[in-house]
Amino acid sequence: MSPWVVVDNIGTLVTNDPEAGEGRLGLIRDAAVVLGDGVIQWVGAHAHIPQGSADATVDLEGRAALPGFVDSHAHLVFGGDRAEEFAARMAGTAYAAGGIRTTVAATRAATDAELSATAARLVAESVRSGTTTIECKSGYGQSVVDELRSLEVAAEVTPETTLLAAHLTPPEFDGDTDAYVRMVCTEMIPACAPNARWIDVFCETGAFDEHQSRAVLEAGIAAGLTARVHGNQLGPGAGVRLAVELRAASVDHVNFVTGEDVEALASGDTVATLLPCADFSTRNRYPDARALLDAGVTVALASDCNPGTSYTTSIPLCIALAVREMHLSPDEAVWAATAGGAAALRRNDIGHIRVGAKADLIALDAPTHLHLAYRPGVPLVHEVWKDGYRR
Ligand code: NIG
Ligand code: FE
Repeated sequence: MSPWVVVDNIGTLVTNDPEAGEGRLGLIRDAAVVLGDGVIQWVGAHAHIPQGSADATVDLEGRAALPGFVDSHAHLVFGGDRAEEFAARMAGTAYAAGGIRTTVAATRAATDAELSATAARLVAESVRSGTTTIECKSGYGQSVVDELRSLEVAAEVTPETTLLAAHLTPPEFDGDTDAYVRMVCTEMIPACAPNARWIDVFCETGAFDEHQSRAVLEAGIAAGLTARVHGNQLGPGAGVRLAVELRAASVDHVNFVTGEDVEALASGDTVATLLPCADFSTRNRYPDARALLDAGVTVALASDCNPGTSYTTSIPLCIALAVREMHLSPDEAVWAATAGGAAALRRNDIGHIRVGAKADLIALDAPTHLHLAYRPGVPLVHEVWKDGYRR
Protein backbone atom coordinates (compact mmCIF):
# COMPACT_ATOMS: atom_id res chain seq x y z
CA MET A 1 0.00 0.00 0.00
CA SER A 2 1.38 3.37 -0.99
CA PRO A 3 2.52 5.89 1.65
CA TRP A 4 0.34 8.84 2.64
CA VAL A 5 1.50 11.99 0.86
CA VAL A 6 0.15 15.52 0.95
CA VAL A 7 0.54 17.07 -2.50
CA ASP A 8 0.42 20.72 -1.51
CA ASN A 9 0.47 24.20 -3.08
CA ILE A 10 -1.21 23.15 -6.30
CA GLY A 11 -1.79 26.37 -8.29
CA THR A 12 -4.80 25.00 -10.19
CA LEU A 13 -6.18 21.52 -9.65
CA VAL A 14 -8.39 19.85 -12.27
CA THR A 15 -10.69 17.43 -10.41
CA ASN A 16 -13.26 16.71 -13.16
CA ASP A 17 -15.74 16.88 -10.30
CA PRO A 18 -18.11 19.82 -10.90
CA GLU A 19 -19.28 19.59 -7.28
CA ALA A 20 -15.76 20.12 -5.99
CA GLY A 21 -14.89 23.31 -7.88
CA GLU A 22 -15.41 25.64 -10.81
CA GLY A 23 -17.03 24.48 -14.05
CA ARG A 24 -17.07 21.06 -15.64
CA LEU A 25 -13.40 20.53 -14.76
CA GLY A 26 -14.15 21.24 -11.10
CA LEU A 27 -11.15 23.58 -10.81
CA ILE A 28 -9.80 24.34 -7.33
CA ARG A 29 -7.20 27.11 -6.91
CA ASP A 30 -4.52 26.87 -4.19
CA ALA A 31 -5.42 23.25 -3.71
CA ALA A 32 -4.02 20.17 -2.01
CA VAL A 33 -4.61 16.45 -2.43
CA VAL A 34 -3.83 13.68 0.04
CA LEU A 35 -2.83 10.36 -1.54
CA GLY A 36 -2.63 7.19 0.54
CA ASP A 37 -3.06 3.44 0.23
CA GLY A 38 -3.32 3.79 -3.54
CA VAL A 39 -6.33 6.09 -3.53
CA ILE A 40 -7.24 9.77 -3.14
CA GLN A 41 -7.88 10.31 0.59
CA TRP A 42 -8.72 14.00 0.59
CA VAL A 43 -9.11 16.89 -1.90
CA GLY A 44 -9.64 20.55 -1.13
CA ALA A 45 -8.21 24.01 -0.60
CA HIS A 46 -4.71 24.33 0.87
CA ALA A 47 -6.23 26.32 3.75
CA HIS A 48 -8.24 23.27 4.87
CA ILE A 49 -5.65 20.49 4.72
CA PRO A 50 -6.48 18.02 7.48
CA GLN A 51 -3.80 17.82 10.15
CA GLY A 52 -2.53 14.34 10.63
CA SER A 53 -0.54 11.42 9.69
CA ALA A 54 0.91 11.93 6.19
CA ASP A 55 4.32 10.36 5.70
CA ALA A 56 5.51 13.20 3.47
CA THR A 57 4.56 16.50 1.86
CA VAL A 58 5.36 17.42 -1.73
CA ASP A 59 5.29 21.16 -2.39
CA LEU A 60 4.22 21.84 -5.99
CA GLU A 61 5.04 25.56 -5.63
CA GLY A 62 2.00 26.70 -7.60
CA ARG A 63 2.15 24.14 -10.40
CA ALA A 64 -1.03 22.74 -11.94
CA ALA A 65 -2.18 19.18 -11.21
CA LEU A 66 -4.75 16.98 -12.87
CA PRO A 67 -5.82 13.34 -13.12
CA GLY A 68 -3.34 11.14 -14.99
CA PHE A 69 -4.21 10.80 -18.67
CA VAL A 70 -6.34 7.81 -19.68
CA ASP A 71 -5.14 6.63 -23.09
CA SER A 72 -8.03 4.44 -24.18
CA HIS A 73 -6.66 3.41 -27.59
CA ALA A 74 -3.16 2.06 -28.24
CA HIS A 75 -1.50 -0.73 -30.19
CA LEU A 76 1.71 -1.48 -28.28
CA VAL A 77 2.41 -5.07 -29.32
CA PHE A 78 4.22 -5.17 -32.65
CA GLY A 79 7.52 -5.92 -34.31
CA GLY A 80 9.58 -3.51 -36.41
CA ASP A 81 8.50 -0.04 -37.46
CA ARG A 82 7.30 1.68 -40.64
CA ALA A 83 9.44 4.81 -40.78
CA GLU A 84 9.95 4.37 -44.51
CA GLU A 85 6.22 4.10 -45.15
CA PHE A 86 5.84 7.34 -43.17
CA ALA A 87 8.51 9.08 -45.24
CA ALA A 88 6.83 7.94 -48.47
CA ARG A 89 3.51 9.23 -47.18
CA MET A 90 5.00 12.62 -46.41
CA ALA A 91 6.21 12.61 -50.03
CA GLY A 92 2.65 12.08 -51.26
CA THR A 93 1.73 8.38 -51.01
CA ALA A 94 -1.71 7.98 -49.41
CA TYR A 95 -2.16 5.88 -46.26
CA ALA A 96 -3.69 2.48 -46.99
CA ALA A 97 -4.71 -0.23 -44.52
CA GLY A 98 -2.48 -2.68 -46.44
CA GLY A 99 0.52 -1.42 -44.49
CA ILE A 100 -0.81 -3.39 -41.52
CA ARG A 101 0.50 -6.54 -43.25
CA THR A 102 4.08 -5.28 -42.98
CA THR A 103 3.67 -5.13 -39.21
CA VAL A 104 1.87 -8.49 -39.07
CA ALA A 105 4.90 -10.12 -40.74
CA ALA A 106 7.34 -8.37 -38.38
CA THR A 107 5.24 -9.25 -35.33
CA ARG A 108 5.01 -12.91 -36.24
CA ALA A 109 8.80 -12.95 -36.72
CA ALA A 110 9.50 -11.27 -33.35
CA THR A 111 10.24 -13.24 -30.19
CA ASP A 112 8.02 -12.89 -27.13
CA ALA A 113 10.88 -11.08 -25.37
CA GLU A 114 11.17 -8.56 -28.21
CA LEU A 115 7.44 -7.86 -28.17
CA SER A 116 7.48 -7.46 -24.38
CA ALA A 117 10.45 -5.09 -24.52
CA THR A 118 8.73 -2.85 -27.08
CA ALA A 119 5.47 -2.73 -25.12
CA ALA A 120 7.32 -1.96 -21.87
CA ARG A 121 9.39 0.76 -23.55
CA LEU A 122 6.27 2.43 -24.96
CA VAL A 123 4.44 2.27 -21.64
CA ALA A 124 7.43 3.82 -19.85
CA GLU A 125 7.44 6.55 -22.50
CA SER A 126 3.70 7.16 -22.06
CA VAL A 127 4.05 7.43 -18.27
CA ARG A 128 6.71 10.10 -18.74
CA SER A 129 4.17 12.16 -20.68
CA GLY A 130 1.53 11.73 -17.99
CA THR A 131 -0.46 8.65 -18.95
CA THR A 132 -1.43 6.54 -15.93
CA THR A 133 -3.88 4.14 -17.63
CA ILE A 134 -3.43 2.73 -21.12
CA GLU A 135 -5.44 0.31 -23.21
CA CYS A 136 -3.49 -2.14 -25.36
CA LYS A 137 -4.69 -4.03 -28.41
CA SER A 138 -3.46 -7.14 -30.11
CA GLY A 139 -4.09 -7.13 -33.88
CA TYR A 140 -0.70 -7.59 -35.48
CA GLY A 141 -0.73 -11.37 -35.05
CA GLN A 142 -3.92 -12.29 -36.92
CA SER A 143 -3.47 -15.99 -36.14
CA VAL A 144 -4.65 -17.77 -33.01
CA VAL A 145 -1.16 -18.30 -31.70
CA ASP A 146 0.10 -14.78 -32.50
CA GLU A 147 -3.01 -13.05 -31.13
CA LEU A 148 -2.74 -15.12 -27.95
CA ARG A 149 0.88 -14.19 -27.37
CA SER A 150 0.11 -10.56 -28.24
CA LEU A 151 -2.54 -10.52 -25.51
CA GLU A 152 -0.13 -12.09 -23.05
CA VAL A 153 2.33 -9.28 -23.75
CA ALA A 154 -0.47 -6.70 -23.46
CA ALA A 155 -1.45 -8.12 -20.06
CA GLU A 156 2.12 -7.54 -18.83
CA VAL A 157 1.57 -3.78 -19.19
CA THR A 158 -2.15 -3.19 -18.53
CA PRO A 159 -5.39 -4.86 -17.45
CA GLU A 160 -7.13 -3.04 -20.34
CA THR A 161 -6.43 -5.66 -23.00
CA THR A 162 -8.24 -5.75 -26.33
CA LEU A 163 -8.50 -8.56 -28.85
CA LEU A 164 -8.33 -6.77 -32.21
CA ALA A 165 -9.19 -10.01 -33.94
CA ALA A 166 -10.15 -8.47 -37.27
CA HIS A 167 -7.58 -5.81 -38.15
CA LEU A 168 -6.73 -6.92 -41.69
CA THR A 169 -7.13 -10.28 -43.45
CA PRO A 170 -3.74 -12.04 -43.17
CA PRO A 171 -1.95 -13.35 -46.29
CA GLU A 172 -2.94 -17.00 -45.72
CA PHE A 173 -6.60 -15.95 -46.13
CA ASP A 174 -5.91 -13.67 -49.11
CA GLY A 175 -9.06 -13.10 -51.14
CA ASP A 176 -11.27 -14.89 -48.62
CA THR A 177 -12.02 -12.49 -45.80
CA ASP A 178 -15.20 -14.43 -44.97
CA ALA A 179 -13.14 -17.55 -44.26
CA TYR A 180 -10.86 -15.49 -41.99
CA VAL A 181 -13.89 -14.10 -40.14
CA ARG A 182 -15.22 -17.66 -39.66
CA MET A 183 -11.87 -18.71 -38.19
CA VAL A 184 -11.88 -15.65 -35.91
CA CYS A 185 -15.38 -16.46 -34.63
CA THR A 186 -14.96 -20.20 -34.16
CA GLU A 187 -11.29 -20.51 -33.13
CA MET A 188 -9.58 -17.23 -32.31
CA ILE A 189 -12.24 -15.67 -30.08
CA PRO A 190 -12.86 -18.81 -28.00
CA ALA A 191 -9.09 -19.24 -27.51
CA CYS A 192 -8.31 -15.58 -26.76
CA ALA A 193 -11.38 -14.26 -24.91
CA PRO A 194 -10.16 -15.36 -21.45
CA ASN A 195 -7.11 -13.10 -21.94
CA ALA A 196 -8.97 -9.98 -23.06
CA ARG A 197 -11.45 -7.48 -21.70
CA TRP A 198 -12.50 -5.97 -25.04
CA ILE A 199 -13.21 -7.08 -28.63
CA ASP A 200 -12.32 -4.67 -31.43
CA VAL A 201 -12.67 -4.68 -35.22
CA PHE A 202 -11.48 -2.42 -38.07
CA CYS A 203 -14.80 -1.72 -39.81
CA GLU A 204 -13.73 0.05 -42.99
CA THR A 205 -13.75 -0.38 -46.76
CA GLY A 206 -10.67 -2.50 -47.49
CA ALA A 207 -10.69 -4.08 -44.02
CA PHE A 208 -13.97 -5.63 -42.71
CA ASP A 209 -17.46 -4.73 -43.94
CA GLU A 210 -20.53 -4.27 -41.76
CA HIS A 211 -21.59 -7.90 -41.95
CA GLN A 212 -18.11 -9.25 -41.14
CA SER A 213 -17.56 -6.69 -38.37
CA ARG A 214 -20.91 -7.56 -36.80
CA ALA A 215 -20.07 -11.27 -36.83
CA VAL A 216 -16.76 -10.67 -35.04
CA LEU A 217 -18.22 -8.27 -32.47
CA GLU A 218 -21.19 -10.52 -31.73
CA ALA A 219 -18.91 -13.54 -31.28
CA GLY A 220 -16.75 -11.50 -28.90
CA ILE A 221 -19.77 -10.30 -26.93
CA ALA A 222 -21.05 -13.89 -26.70
CA ALA A 223 -17.64 -14.83 -25.27
CA GLY A 224 -18.00 -12.20 -22.53
CA LEU A 225 -16.10 -9.28 -24.06
CA THR A 226 -17.36 -5.73 -24.57
CA ALA A 227 -17.15 -4.14 -28.00
CA ARG A 228 -15.07 -1.23 -29.22
CA VAL A 229 -14.78 -0.34 -32.89
CA HIS A 230 -12.32 1.31 -35.29
CA GLY A 231 -14.79 3.08 -37.56
CA ASN A 232 -15.28 5.79 -40.18
CA GLN A 233 -11.55 6.57 -40.35
CA LEU A 234 -10.90 6.53 -44.08
CA GLY A 235 -14.40 7.11 -45.39
CA PRO A 236 -18.08 6.97 -44.46
CA GLY A 237 -19.37 3.58 -43.36
CA ALA A 238 -21.27 1.42 -40.90
CA GLY A 239 -18.80 1.57 -37.99
CA VAL A 240 -20.53 4.21 -35.90
CA ARG A 241 -24.01 2.77 -36.36
CA LEU A 242 -22.85 -0.75 -35.58
CA ALA A 243 -20.96 0.41 -32.48
CA VAL A 244 -24.02 2.22 -31.11
CA GLU A 245 -26.33 -0.70 -31.92
CA LEU A 246 -24.04 -3.21 -30.16
CA ARG A 247 -23.56 -0.80 -27.24
CA ALA A 248 -19.83 -0.63 -27.80
CA ALA A 249 -17.94 1.30 -25.14
CA SER A 250 -16.34 3.42 -27.85
CA VAL A 251 -16.07 4.01 -31.58
CA ASP A 252 -12.72 5.39 -32.54
CA HIS A 253 -11.43 7.68 -35.33
CA VAL A 254 -14.89 8.93 -36.58
CA ASN A 255 -13.35 11.16 -39.24
CA PHE A 256 -16.20 10.65 -41.70
CA VAL A 257 -19.56 10.76 -39.93
CA THR A 258 -22.99 11.76 -41.17
CA GLY A 259 -25.64 13.73 -39.31
CA GLU A 260 -27.39 10.41 -38.57
CA ASP A 261 -24.17 9.00 -37.11
CA VAL A 262 -23.89 12.01 -34.80
CA GLU A 263 -27.53 11.60 -33.74
CA ALA A 264 -27.01 7.89 -33.07
CA LEU A 265 -23.99 8.66 -30.89
CA ALA A 266 -25.87 11.39 -29.04
CA SER A 267 -28.75 9.04 -28.25
CA GLY A 268 -26.62 6.05 -27.23
CA ASP A 269 -23.95 5.41 -24.62
CA THR A 270 -21.01 4.87 -26.96
CA VAL A 271 -18.12 7.30 -26.55
CA ALA A 272 -16.58 8.85 -29.68
CA THR A 273 -12.80 8.61 -29.37
CA LEU A 274 -10.78 11.06 -31.44
CA LEU A 275 -7.22 10.17 -32.45
CA PRO A 276 -5.68 13.44 -33.66
CA CYS A 277 -2.12 12.09 -33.82
CA ALA A 278 -3.26 9.48 -36.37
CA ASP A 279 -4.82 12.22 -38.48
CA PHE A 280 -1.67 14.30 -38.12
CA SER A 281 0.62 11.44 -39.19
CA THR A 282 -1.55 10.30 -42.09
CA ARG A 283 -2.68 13.75 -43.26
CA ASN A 284 -6.22 12.52 -42.87
CA ARG A 285 -9.05 14.99 -42.53
CA TYR A 286 -9.69 15.73 -38.85
CA PRO A 287 -13.12 14.76 -37.52
CA ASP A 288 -15.83 17.35 -37.00
CA ALA A 289 -15.39 17.31 -33.25
CA ARG A 290 -17.58 20.39 -32.77
CA ALA A 291 -20.56 18.62 -34.32
CA LEU A 292 -20.06 15.73 -31.88
CA LEU A 293 -19.57 17.93 -28.82
CA ASP A 294 -22.37 20.32 -29.68
CA ALA A 295 -24.74 17.35 -30.07
CA GLY A 296 -23.83 16.17 -26.56
CA VAL A 297 -21.73 13.15 -27.56
CA THR A 298 -19.17 12.04 -24.95
CA VAL A 299 -15.75 12.54 -26.56
CA ALA A 300 -12.42 10.97 -25.58
CA LEU A 301 -8.92 11.68 -26.87
CA ALA A 302 -6.37 8.89 -27.25
CA SER A 303 -2.96 8.34 -28.82
CA ASP A 304 -3.66 5.37 -31.15
CA CYS A 305 0.05 4.63 -30.67
CA ASN A 306 0.98 2.16 -33.45
CA PRO A 307 3.79 1.90 -36.01
CA GLY A 308 1.57 2.66 -39.01
CA THR A 309 -0.57 5.71 -38.41
CA SER A 310 0.49 7.26 -35.12
CA TYR A 311 3.86 6.38 -33.65
CA THR A 312 3.52 8.54 -30.57
CA THR A 313 2.44 7.98 -26.97
CA SER A 314 2.03 11.69 -26.25
CA ILE A 315 -1.37 12.68 -24.90
CA PRO A 316 -0.17 16.30 -24.51
CA LEU A 317 0.37 16.32 -28.29
CA CYS A 318 -3.15 14.90 -28.77
CA ILE A 319 -4.52 17.72 -26.61
CA ALA A 320 -2.63 20.39 -28.54
CA LEU A 321 -3.79 19.01 -31.90
CA ALA A 322 -7.38 18.58 -30.72
CA VAL A 323 -7.45 22.23 -29.71
CA ARG A 324 -5.61 23.60 -32.74
CA GLU A 325 -7.06 21.36 -35.45
CA MET A 326 -10.39 20.07 -34.12
CA HIS A 327 -11.55 23.21 -32.31
CA LEU A 328 -11.97 21.71 -28.87
CA SER A 329 -11.46 24.27 -26.13
CA PRO A 330 -8.44 23.48 -23.92
CA ASP A 331 -10.88 22.54 -21.13
CA GLU A 332 -12.76 20.15 -23.43
CA ALA A 333 -9.52 18.56 -24.58
CA VAL A 334 -8.20 18.03 -21.05
CA TRP A 335 -11.54 16.54 -20.00
CA ALA A 336 -11.55 14.24 -23.06
CA ALA A 337 -8.02 12.98 -22.29
CA THR A 338 -8.87 12.18 -18.66
CA ALA A 339 -12.58 11.69 -17.81
CA GLY A 340 -13.40 10.99 -21.48
CA GLY A 341 -10.81 8.22 -21.67
CA ALA A 342 -12.18 6.76 -18.45
CA ALA A 343 -15.70 6.77 -19.95
CA ALA A 344 -14.36 5.03 -23.08
CA LEU A 345 -13.00 2.29 -20.81
CA ARG A 346 -16.18 2.27 -18.67
CA ARG A 347 -14.12 3.05 -15.60
CA ASN A 348 -15.27 5.31 -12.77
CA ASP A 349 -12.21 4.87 -10.56
CA ILE A 350 -9.92 6.91 -12.83
CA GLY A 351 -10.05 10.18 -14.81
CA HIS A 352 -11.06 12.33 -11.85
CA ILE A 353 -9.70 13.47 -8.48
CA ARG A 354 -12.29 12.50 -5.93
CA VAL A 355 -12.03 10.70 -2.57
CA GLY A 356 -11.81 6.97 -3.24
CA ALA A 357 -10.59 7.28 -6.85
CA LYS A 358 -7.24 5.76 -7.79
CA ALA A 359 -4.30 7.93 -6.74
CA ASP A 360 -3.31 8.70 -10.35
CA LEU A 361 -2.27 12.34 -10.42
CA ILE A 362 0.12 14.39 -12.53
CA ALA A 363 1.74 17.76 -11.93
CA LEU A 364 2.74 20.14 -14.72
CA ASP A 365 5.58 22.59 -14.99
CA ALA A 366 2.92 25.24 -15.64
CA PRO A 367 0.41 27.20 -13.56
CA THR A 368 -2.70 25.80 -15.29
CA HIS A 369 -3.83 22.89 -17.48
CA LEU A 370 -4.33 25.39 -20.35
CA HIS A 371 -0.60 25.26 -20.97
CA LEU A 372 -0.94 21.68 -22.30
CA ALA A 373 -2.43 23.14 -25.49
CA TYR A 374 -0.72 26.51 -25.28
CA ARG A 375 2.83 25.09 -25.17
CA PRO A 376 2.81 22.30 -27.78
CA GLY A 377 5.81 20.00 -27.91
CA VAL A 378 7.15 21.07 -24.53
CA PRO A 379 7.53 18.25 -21.96
CA LEU A 380 5.44 19.88 -19.23
CA VAL A 381 4.84 16.80 -17.09
CA HIS A 382 6.78 17.38 -13.88
CA GLU A 383 5.61 14.49 -11.63
CA VAL A 384 3.45 11.40 -12.08
CA TRP A 385 1.79 9.42 -9.28
CA LYS A 386 0.19 6.13 -10.23
CA ASP A 387 -1.55 4.06 -7.56
CA GLY A 388 -0.13 6.59 -5.11
CA TYR A 389 3.50 5.91 -6.06
CA ARG A 390 5.78 8.42 -7.74
CA ARG A 391 6.81 7.15 -11.20
O1 NIG B 1 -5.95 2.69 -35.57
N1 NIG B 1 -7.13 1.81 -38.38
C1 NIG B 1 -6.67 0.75 -38.12
N2 NIG B 1 -5.65 0.47 -37.32
C2 NIG B 1 -4.61 1.36 -36.93
C3 NIG B 1 -3.53 1.49 -37.93
C4 NIG B 1 -2.86 0.23 -38.22
C5 NIG B 1 -1.62 0.32 -39.05
O2 NIG B 1 -1.57 1.01 -40.09
O3 NIG B 1 -0.69 -0.39 -38.66
C6 NIG B 1 -5.20 2.69 -36.52
O4 NIG B 1 -4.93 3.74 -37.12
FE1 FE C 1 -6.10 2.04 -33.72
